Amino acid sequence: MSKLIWKNDYNIDVPDIDDKMKALFEGMNRYLEYDDKRRKEEDYDEIGEVLADLSEAVRQHFAHEEKVLTQYHYPEIGGHKKEHRRFVKKILAFRRVYSEEPEKIYKDSVRFIREWLVQHIMDEDMRYAPFIRVQKYLNEHSAQSRRGR
Ligand SMILES: [Fe+2]
Repeated sequence: MSKLIWKNDYNIDVPDIDDKMKALFEGMNRYLEYDDKRRKEEDYDEIGEVLADLSEAVRQHFAHEEKVLTQYHYPEIGGHKKEHRRFVKKILAFRRVYSEEPEKIYKDSVRFIREWLVQHIMDEDMRYAPFIRVQKYLNEHSAQSRRGR
């Protein structure tokens, strides 16, 4: 499966969101590395750790993104958070049964996580991006005009 490559189209233009998303891509790419390799039984401990790191990167990114959406009063935050929760639950479920069937879980999860991330960015994150950009601009602009007075 091909690696995730960051595109400028993915930029939300809120630096921390973009940086955390890039970190998430790196975590995902580390996870994807095992897809091409012939996996041996002893690799599965390592893969389990990479999955744990990836799930931590997901948690941090979501927490931060939700904080920003709350700060700017994004009206559709409820639905967005629900999407996040569903995904986190799915990753936790993968992690829970990973030790029992690592090979199967790896195969199922690597595809699922990769597809989900790209789709979530394109469908959900891109929906809030213009809203946040406008709010950010208005905030900065009104702060400037207050200072100018
Ligand atoms: Fe999101």
